[in-house]
Amino acid sequence: MSFGKKHLLGIQDLTKSEILSILETAESLKEISRRDIKKVPALRGKTIINLFFEPSTRTRSSFELAAKRLSADISSFSKTTSSTVKGETLKDTVLNLEAMQTDALIIRHSASGTPHFLSTFCESHVINAGDGTHEHPTQALLDAFTIKEEKNRLKDLKIVIVGDILHSRVARSNIFLLNKMGAQVVLVGPPGMVPAELADLGADIDHDMDRAVKNADVIMMLRIQLERQQKNFFPSLREYRNLYSLTPNRFKKADRNAIIMHPGPINRDVEISTQLADSVKSVILKQVENGIAIRMAVLYLLLGGKEREFTN
Ligand code: CP
Repeated sequence: MSFGKKHLLGIQDLTKSEILSILETAESLKEISRRDIKKVPALRGKTIINLFFEPSTRTRSSFELAAKRLSADISSFSKTTSSTVKGETLKDTVLNLEAMQTDALIIRHSASGTPHFLSTFCESHVINAGDGTHEHPTQALLDAFTIKEEKNRLKDLKIVIVGDILHSRVARSNIFLLNKMGAQVVLVGPPGMVPAELADLGADIDHDMDRAVKNADVIMMLRIQLERQQKNFFPSLREYRNLYSLTPNRFKKADRNAIIMHPGPINRDVEISTQLADSVKSVILKQVENGIAIRMAVLYLLLGGKEREFTN
Protein backbone atom coordinates (compact mmCIF):
# COMPACT_ATOMS: atom_id res chain seq x y z
CA MET A 1 0.00 0.00 0.00
CA SER A 2 1.34 3.44 -0.84
CA PHE A 3 0.94 6.64 1.15
CA GLY A 4 1.97 9.96 -0.32
CA LYS A 5 2.53 12.09 2.80
CA LYS A 6 5.67 12.50 4.91
CA HIS A 7 3.75 13.71 7.99
CA LEU A 8 0.30 13.23 9.48
CA LEU A 9 -0.64 16.76 10.49
CA GLY A 10 -4.40 16.72 10.06
CA ILE A 11 -7.34 15.18 8.25
CA GLN A 12 -7.84 18.38 6.27
CA ASP A 13 -4.63 17.60 4.31
CA LEU A 14 -5.58 14.00 3.47
CA THR A 15 -7.31 12.82 0.31
CA LYS A 16 -10.17 10.35 0.45
CA SER A 17 -7.89 7.67 -0.97
CA GLU A 18 -5.24 8.32 1.72
CA ILE A 19 -7.93 7.98 4.40
CA LEU A 20 -9.11 4.70 2.85
CA SER A 21 -5.54 3.48 2.70
CA ILE A 22 -5.11 4.04 6.46
CA LEU A 23 -8.46 2.37 7.23
CA GLU A 24 -7.63 -0.67 5.05
CA THR A 25 -4.17 -1.02 6.56
CA ALA A 26 -5.65 -0.83 10.07
CA GLU A 27 -8.06 -3.61 9.12
CA SER A 28 -5.14 -5.88 8.21
CA LEU A 29 -3.18 -4.95 11.33
CA LYS A 30 -5.97 -5.20 13.89
CA GLU A 31 -5.73 -8.95 14.40
CA ILE A 32 -2.09 -8.70 15.56
CA SER A 33 -3.35 -7.28 18.87
CA ARG A 34 -5.56 -10.33 19.33
CA ARG A 35 -2.67 -12.77 18.92
CA ASP A 36 -1.04 -14.50 21.85
CA ILE A 37 2.27 -12.90 20.84
CA LYS A 38 1.30 -9.36 19.81
CA LYS A 39 4.36 -8.42 17.82
CA VAL A 40 5.54 -8.35 14.20
CA PRO A 41 8.90 -7.12 12.86
CA ALA A 42 7.48 -4.57 10.37
CA LEU A 43 9.23 -1.52 11.91
CA ARG A 44 12.22 -3.23 13.52
CA GLY A 45 15.09 -0.77 13.94
CA LYS A 46 12.92 2.37 13.72
CA THR A 47 13.06 4.93 16.55
CA ILE A 48 10.00 6.91 17.60
CA ILE A 49 9.54 9.53 20.31
CA ASN A 50 6.24 10.41 21.97
CA LEU A 51 6.26 14.08 23.06
CA PHE A 52 3.19 14.81 25.14
CA PHE A 53 2.89 18.36 26.44
CA GLU A 54 -0.71 17.74 27.57
CA PRO A 55 -2.21 14.87 29.61
CA SER A 56 -3.33 11.74 27.78
CA THR A 57 -4.38 8.22 28.68
CA ARG A 58 -5.60 6.72 25.40
CA THR A 59 -3.56 8.41 22.65
CA ARG A 60 -0.18 8.22 24.35
CA SER A 61 -0.56 4.59 25.47
CA SER A 62 -1.94 3.42 22.17
CA PHE A 63 0.83 5.06 20.12
CA GLU A 64 3.31 3.41 22.48
CA LEU A 65 1.69 -0.02 22.16
CA ALA A 66 1.24 0.40 18.39
CA ALA A 67 4.96 1.12 17.96
CA LYS A 68 5.95 -1.81 20.18
CA ARG A 69 3.63 -4.21 18.35
CA LEU A 70 5.43 -3.27 15.13
CA SER A 71 8.82 -3.79 16.88
CA ALA A 72 9.88 -0.12 16.73
CA ASP A 73 11.76 1.40 19.67
CA ILE A 74 9.70 4.11 21.34
CA SER A 75 10.54 6.53 24.11
CA SER A 76 7.86 8.65 25.75
CA PHE A 77 8.22 11.82 27.71
CA SER A 78 5.92 14.47 29.06
CA LYS A 79 6.25 18.18 29.64
CA THR A 80 7.03 17.86 33.35
CA THR A 81 9.95 15.46 32.77
CA SER A 82 11.53 17.31 29.84
CA SER A 83 14.06 20.15 29.89
CA THR A 84 11.44 22.56 28.54
CA VAL A 85 10.67 23.20 32.24
CA LYS A 86 14.23 24.58 32.48
CA GLY A 87 13.55 27.03 29.68
CA GLU A 88 14.61 25.08 26.60
CA THR A 89 12.57 26.00 23.52
CA LEU A 90 10.45 23.39 21.79
CA LYS A 91 12.58 23.75 18.65
CA ASP A 92 15.80 23.09 20.61
CA THR A 93 14.19 20.15 22.40
CA VAL A 94 13.15 18.61 19.10
CA LEU A 95 16.52 19.27 17.39
CA ASN A 96 18.26 17.55 20.32
CA LEU A 97 15.94 14.55 20.10
CA GLU A 98 16.46 14.34 16.35
CA ALA A 99 20.23 14.31 16.92
CA MET A 100 19.58 10.86 18.45
CA GLN A 101 18.53 9.69 14.96
CA THR A 102 14.76 9.50 15.40
CA ASP A 103 12.49 8.33 12.59
CA ALA A 104 9.19 9.76 13.88
CA LEU A 105 8.02 12.28 16.45
CA ILE A 106 4.50 12.08 17.83
CA ILE A 107 3.41 15.35 19.39
CA ARG A 108 0.50 16.54 21.51
CA HIS A 109 0.55 20.21 22.41
CA SER A 110 -1.91 22.80 23.71
CA ALA A 111 -0.89 25.25 20.97
CA SER A 112 -2.74 24.77 17.67
CA GLY A 113 -0.29 24.41 14.78
CA THR A 114 2.63 22.96 16.79
CA PRO A 115 2.95 19.81 14.60
CA HIS A 116 2.93 22.04 11.48
CA PHE A 117 5.72 24.13 13.03
CA LEU A 118 7.80 21.00 13.70
CA SER A 119 7.26 19.82 10.13
CA THR A 120 9.01 22.97 8.83
CA PHE A 121 12.39 21.86 10.21
CA CYS A 122 12.16 18.19 11.26
CA GLU A 123 13.82 15.42 9.28
CA SER A 124 11.65 12.86 11.12
CA HIS A 125 8.03 12.09 10.29
CA VAL A 126 5.77 14.28 12.44
CA ILE A 127 2.48 12.87 13.71
CA ASN A 128 -0.15 15.09 15.28
CA ALA A 129 -1.56 13.51 18.46
CA GLY A 130 -3.82 16.52 19.15
CA ASP A 131 -2.93 20.22 18.76
CA GLY A 132 -4.89 22.79 20.74
CA THR A 133 -8.37 23.26 19.33
CA HIS A 134 -7.21 22.43 15.81
CA GLU A 135 -7.06 18.70 14.91
CA HIS A 136 -6.76 15.20 16.39
CA PRO A 137 -6.40 13.16 13.19
CA THR A 138 -5.84 9.68 14.64
CA GLN A 139 -8.97 10.08 16.79
CA ALA A 140 -11.10 10.81 13.70
CA LEU A 141 -9.49 7.87 11.87
CA LEU A 142 -10.21 5.45 14.71
CA ASP A 143 -13.75 6.81 14.94
CA ALA A 144 -14.28 6.23 11.20
CA PHE A 145 -12.79 2.74 11.49
CA THR A 146 -15.20 1.93 14.34
CA ILE A 147 -18.23 3.30 12.47
CA LYS A 148 -17.29 1.26 9.38
CA GLU A 149 -16.96 -1.87 11.51
CA GLU A 150 -20.40 -1.32 13.03
CA LYS A 151 -22.28 0.05 9.99
CA ASN A 152 -20.26 -1.26 7.03
CA ARG A 153 -20.10 2.22 5.51
CA LEU A 154 -19.71 5.92 6.22
CA LYS A 155 -21.53 7.35 3.20
CA ASP A 156 -25.05 8.72 3.83
CA LEU A 157 -25.01 7.96 7.56
CA LYS A 158 -26.50 10.61 9.84
CA ILE A 159 -23.82 11.36 12.41
CA VAL A 160 -24.71 13.73 15.25
CA ILE A 161 -21.83 15.29 17.21
CA VAL A 162 -22.87 16.88 20.51
CA GLY A 163 -20.95 19.24 22.77
CA ASP A 164 -18.36 21.98 22.72
CA ILE A 165 -17.67 21.79 18.99
CA LEU A 166 -15.98 25.20 18.87
CA HIS A 167 -13.11 24.07 21.12
CA SER A 168 -12.98 20.43 20.03
CA ARG A 169 -10.11 19.18 17.87
CA VAL A 170 -11.87 15.80 17.82
CA ALA A 171 -14.98 17.36 16.28
CA ARG A 172 -13.00 19.31 13.67
CA SER A 173 -11.06 16.24 12.49
CA ASN A 174 -14.26 14.20 12.42
CA ILE A 175 -16.12 16.85 10.42
CA PHE A 176 -13.32 16.95 7.82
CA LEU A 177 -13.15 13.17 7.56
CA LEU A 178 -16.88 12.46 7.52
CA ASN A 179 -17.47 15.15 4.88
CA LYS A 180 -14.82 13.61 2.63
CA MET A 181 -16.48 10.21 3.03
CA GLY A 182 -20.01 11.48 2.24
CA ALA A 183 -21.69 11.25 5.66
CA GLN A 184 -24.24 13.80 6.89
CA VAL A 185 -22.84 15.60 9.95
CA VAL A 186 -25.08 17.45 12.41
CA LEU A 187 -23.44 19.57 15.12
CA VAL A 188 -25.42 20.07 18.33
CA GLY A 189 -24.87 22.23 21.40
CA PRO A 190 -25.61 25.66 22.84
CA PRO A 191 -24.90 28.60 20.50
CA GLY A 192 -21.75 29.58 22.43
CA MET A 193 -20.27 26.16 21.71
CA VAL A 194 -21.79 25.65 18.26
CA PRO A 195 -21.80 29.06 16.56
CA ALA A 196 -23.42 29.48 13.14
CA GLU A 197 -20.07 29.94 11.35
CA LEU A 198 -19.23 26.27 11.97
CA ALA A 199 -21.66 25.52 9.13
CA ASP A 200 -18.83 26.71 6.85
CA LEU A 201 -17.04 23.44 7.69
CA GLY A 202 -19.79 21.63 5.80
CA ALA A 203 -22.07 20.46 8.62
CA ASP A 204 -25.66 21.13 9.65
CA ILE A 205 -26.23 22.91 12.96
CA ASP A 206 -29.03 22.31 15.42
CA HIS A 207 -29.32 23.69 18.96
CA ASP A 208 -32.22 21.35 19.79
CA MET A 209 -30.81 17.95 20.68
CA ASP A 210 -34.18 16.16 20.82
CA ARG A 211 -34.82 17.15 17.21
CA ALA A 212 -31.26 16.50 16.01
CA VAL A 213 -30.97 12.92 17.29
CA LYS A 214 -34.10 11.77 15.40
CA ASN A 215 -33.10 8.89 13.09
CA ALA A 216 -29.41 9.36 13.84
CA ASP A 217 -27.19 6.39 12.96
CA VAL A 218 -24.34 7.53 15.18
CA ILE A 219 -24.35 9.83 18.20
CA MET A 220 -20.90 11.08 19.12
CA MET A 221 -20.81 12.77 22.51
CA LEU A 222 -17.94 15.09 23.42
CA ARG A 223 -16.51 15.69 26.86
CA ILE A 224 -17.69 18.84 28.53
CA GLN A 225 -14.42 20.57 29.24
CA LEU A 226 -15.19 21.43 32.85
CA GLU A 227 -11.95 23.44 33.03
CA ARG A 228 -13.42 25.92 30.51
CA GLN A 229 -16.72 26.49 32.22
CA GLN A 230 -15.61 29.57 34.13
CA LYS A 231 -15.83 31.24 30.71
CA ASN A 232 -19.62 30.82 30.74
CA PHE A 233 -20.30 29.07 27.46
CA PHE A 234 -23.66 28.08 29.01
CA PRO A 235 -25.51 29.30 32.12
CA SER A 236 -24.98 26.24 34.39
CA LEU A 237 -23.89 22.62 34.24
CA ARG A 238 -27.39 21.57 35.31
CA GLU A 239 -28.89 23.47 32.40
CA TYR A 240 -26.38 21.95 29.98
CA ARG A 241 -27.25 18.48 31.26
CA ASN A 242 -30.98 19.11 30.84
CA LEU A 243 -30.58 20.24 27.26
CA TYR A 244 -27.65 18.25 25.88
CA SER A 245 -26.92 15.15 27.96
CA LEU A 246 -27.49 11.82 26.19
CA THR A 247 -30.15 10.12 28.29
CA PRO A 248 -32.10 6.89 27.61
CA ASN A 249 -35.20 8.94 26.68
CA ARG A 250 -33.31 11.01 24.12
CA PHE A 251 -31.53 7.98 22.71
CA LYS A 252 -34.91 6.33 21.94
CA LYS A 253 -35.43 8.96 19.21
CA ALA A 254 -32.36 7.79 17.26
CA ASP A 255 -32.43 4.97 14.71
CA ARG A 256 -33.09 1.63 16.46
CA ASN A 257 -29.61 0.42 15.43
CA ALA A 258 -27.84 3.63 16.41
CA ILE A 259 -24.49 3.47 18.17
CA ILE A 260 -23.04 5.75 20.83
CA MET A 261 -19.47 7.04 20.63
CA HIS A 262 -17.25 9.17 22.85
CA PRO A 263 -13.52 9.89 22.44
CA GLY A 264 -13.02 9.85 26.21
CA PRO A 265 -12.42 10.75 28.91
CA ILE A 266 -16.13 10.68 29.75
CA ASN A 267 -17.88 12.69 32.45
CA ARG A 268 -20.40 10.13 33.64
CA ASP A 269 -23.91 11.54 34.10
CA VAL A 270 -22.84 14.92 32.71
CA GLU A 271 -22.73 14.61 28.90
CA ILE A 272 -23.75 10.94 28.89
CA SER A 273 -25.74 8.79 31.30
CA THR A 274 -23.82 5.95 32.92
CA GLN A 275 -26.58 3.57 31.81
CA LEU A 276 -25.95 4.40 28.13
CA ALA A 277 -22.17 4.64 28.40
CA ASP A 278 -22.08 1.06 29.69
CA SER A 279 -24.84 -0.27 27.41
CA VAL A 280 -24.53 -2.57 24.39
CA LYS A 281 -25.21 0.45 22.18
CA SER A 282 -21.97 2.07 23.32
CA VAL A 283 -18.83 1.41 21.25
CA ILE A 284 -16.60 3.56 23.46
CA LEU A 285 -14.19 0.76 24.40
CA LYS A 286 -14.18 -0.56 20.81
CA GLN A 287 -12.95 2.91 19.80
CA VAL A 288 -10.07 2.53 22.25
CA GLU A 289 -9.17 -0.93 20.92
CA ASN A 290 -9.31 0.35 17.34
CA GLY A 291 -7.02 3.23 18.28
CA ILE A 292 -4.11 0.79 18.38
CA ALA A 293 -4.87 -0.60 14.90
CA ILE A 294 -5.15 2.91 13.45
CA ARG A 295 -1.94 4.10 15.07
CA MET A 296 -0.14 0.96 13.88
CA ALA A 297 -1.41 1.73 10.37
CA VAL A 298 -0.25 5.36 10.52
CA LEU A 299 3.23 4.39 11.75
CA TYR A 300 3.46 1.54 9.26
CA LEU A 301 2.47 3.69 6.27
CA LEU A 302 4.60 6.72 7.18
CA LEU A 303 7.69 4.75 8.14
CA GLY A 304 7.50 2.39 5.20
CA GLY A 305 6.80 -0.98 6.80
CA LYS A 306 6.86 -4.06 4.58
CA GLU A 307 3.56 -5.89 4.05
CA ARG A 308 5.12 -9.35 4.12
CA GLU A 309 6.31 -8.60 7.65
CA PHE A 310 2.90 -8.53 9.23
CA THR A 311 0.98 -11.16 7.30
CA ASN A 312 0.93 -14.73 8.62
N1 CP B 1 -9.38 10.64 23.07
C1 CP B 1 -8.22 11.12 23.58
O1 CP B 1 -7.48 11.87 22.94
O2 CP B 1 -7.96 10.69 24.85
P1 CP B 1 -6.63 11.04 25.66
O3 CP B 1 -6.68 12.51 25.97
O4 CP B 1 -6.69 10.19 26.90
O5 CP B 1 -5.46 10.71 24.80
